Amino acid sequence: MRAALQIETTPATLGATVTGVKLASLSPKDWSQIRTAFLEHAVLVFPGQHLSDREQAAFGGRFGELVVTLLEFSNEMSDGSLRSADDPMMQLLKGNEGWHTDNSYLPVSASASMLSARTVPSAGGDTEWADMRAAYQALTPKMRTRIEGLKAYHSLTRSQVRTGQGASETARAFATLTSRDSSPRRPGAGAAPGTSAGSDPAASDSVLNVPPPLRPLVKRHPETGRPALYIGRHAYRIEGLGLAESEGLLTELLDFACHPPRVLTHTWEVGDFVIWDNRCVLHRVRPWDLAEARTVVHTRVNGDPVSEAAELSPPRDAEVDESTV
Ligand code: OGA
Ligand code: MN
Repeated sequence: MRAALQIETTPATLGATVTGVKLASLSPKDWSQIRTAFLEHAVLVFPGQHLSDREQAAFGGRFGELVVTLLEFSNEMSDGSLRSADDPMMQLLKGNEGWHTDNSYLPVSASASMLSARTVPSAGGDTEWADMRAAYQALTPKMRTRIEGLKAYHSLTRSQVRTGQGASETARAFATLTSRDSSPRRPGAGAAPGTSAGSDPAASDSVLNVPPPLRPLVKRHPETGRPALYIGRHAYRIEGLGLAESEGLLTELLDFACHPPRVLTHTWEVGDFVIWDNRCVLHRVRPWDLAEARTVVHTRVNGDPVSEAAELSPPRDAEVDESTV
């Protein structure tokens, strides 16, 4: 007989480890327990699943429409050589070291994301998640009042520029991320049309040519109703505040939020699979020695077109120049 599904919480305010289940062949009962646990714990770690691409995409599809079906985040090319520092993928990896929530810079943000580990370095390369529900609860009444009703603009271009990447490279990197053709899921470093980074101008336009989405600093979870801070590295300016004041407040909130006991760290073993709720947690990857390969396969679920929609009102005059960097 198969072991029964077990859910074990972590010492942090978020996250649980789930064992005794094969995600590739779930019973309806197990699926319903996983759904419930996902909403409660916001991050679920499933050690040793060793999902195939097809199994990962199928499990992801249970959560909704996939906006990224299968994408390798890797510093290694398919021929086994390591990517060079100017490869757009390396810029995305660098960017992923900052706390963020997926797709907050798009008109509809992501609901869930998931990763499976295919190659892990001997040290470093952990992934961390921070609980924005607990962070909101821990704010002083004064800070809660200060941020009530405030909204921030989010931009991938701006957050990538802060990591040292130019706007056109960001467009290439974004095309890598959003290529809907699942076959070349290991994007090359070059720009051969149709097969690699830079081949999807429509995707890059959506970053560079839409007004930056405006999103409340406090998000009410559409399924649990719980409030959570909704911030991260893509948020750069608060509506109605100057840039310096905006950055000061956003940094203060981020520094406060991303601390124990609100942080869960996962050290990967090959075959591990993790899913998280972008509507109430931030995540980041920790650095590792880039002379060693690290390959994780990412699947991303589109948010609800109503509850994860941003306002798309362009910033007012004084804000325009900065928002289109
Ligand atoms: C992601 C991400 C972090 C990692 O998959 O969205 O930011 O650990 N990845 O690779
Ligand atoms: Mn991410």
